Amino acid sequence: MAHKICVIEGDGIGKEVVPASINVLEATGVDFEFIYAEAGDEVFEKTGKALPEETVEKALESDAVFFGAAGETAADVIVKLRQILKTYANVRPVKAYKGINCLRDDIDYVIVRENTEGLYKGLEAEIDEGITTATRVITRKACERIFKFAFELARDRKKQGKEGKVTCAHKANVLKVTDGLFKKVFYEVAEEYDDIKVEDYYIDAMNMYIITKPQVFDVVVTSNLFGDILSDGAAGTVGGLGLAPSANIGDEHGLFEPVHGSAPDIAGKGIANPTATILSGVLMLRYLKEFEAADKIEKALEEVLAAGLTTPDLGGKLNTFQMAEEVAKRVEK
Ligand code: NAI
Ligand code: MG
Repeated sequence: MAHKICVIEGDGIGKEVVPASINVLEATGVDFEFIYAEAGDEVFEKTGKALPEETVEKALESDAVFFGAAGETAADVIVKLRQILKTYANVRPVKAYKGINCLRDDIDYVIVRENTEGLYKGLEAEIDEGITTATRVITRKACERIFKFAFELARDRKKQGKEGKVTCAHKANVLKVTDGLFKKVFYEVAEEYDDIKVEDYYIDAMNMYIITKPQVFDVVVTSNLFGDILSDGAAGTVGGLGLAPSANIGDEHGLFEPVHGSAPDIAGKGIANPTATILSGVLMLRYLKEFEAADKIEKALEEVLAAGLTTPDLGGKLNTFQMAEEVAKRVEK
């Protein structure tokens, strides 16, 4: 049976990197049924709704969602969609590919970001003129769920020859109640995984360590806002946002998207790097248990990157579709 994929291109370069990556997905010969849906600034301007009900319905009834980027409406679109689909784990691999100008060539870890609460719960208020608040929500239930996910991921990676370690990043020294709980539950869950090494760092120091010793990390788990910030920095160590993919995973749904946004500074020029979105497609294929097709794309992409057949952000001369086409050609072979 065909995999039913809800495709949301969204705004800006989403309209370029998503169709280019769909060409690559189609080159695998895997049976897909693509269902297109709208979300983002453009549909908001037309209809007053950034995330139309119809889009939510299509996302809920698909096997997976393939998302590009939203613009200024990102909070009402992608943050909402992650919550509606209950995709509690935001998985962001940080990997050095050959041919890319990375900090080191042995960087290979995964950031697991809690996706449903923290400061992104959306509980903001203006309690008086000039006085605003945001409520940071950390619950034991969401902590247990995200830590189990991180430890299971570390176990899977250990089977593939990785170290088998989970690093927890928090700020429990200042956010004593919320991150106090976060850290406490981390070590409780760790007790169920005595085959996996554990460590924890304060998020500010962690931010330095991903630059000074990125090669020592395997799985890094953190809360929502910290994970958002940490993962863009991490992307910068392995070639930039044009290369950073992500998977949003829950018990019932999966949503796959590049880490970057709509990039208005380069939108419409055809120069956006499709790699992050192609790699998000690879994560989607693995989620759909299409392992062979996933490996094929990743290998083809590795060849294309190593050969310098890239968009200008990586020093190449190709446009978005040409680069994706180089990958698709190698997948078809
Ligand atoms: P951004 O990620 O769109 O761009 C940051 C920088 O990275 C820009 O210089 C951009 O040109 C570059 N870049 C991003 N993707 C690239 C690619 N594929 N190839 C080459 N260069 C790339 O973040 P920014 O500029 O902070 O936000 C722009 C808009 O995107 C905002 O409206 C923001 O709300 C939205 N946004 C949406 C997200 C989402 O839908 N998941 C995530 C982040 C931002
Ligand atoms: Mg972000």
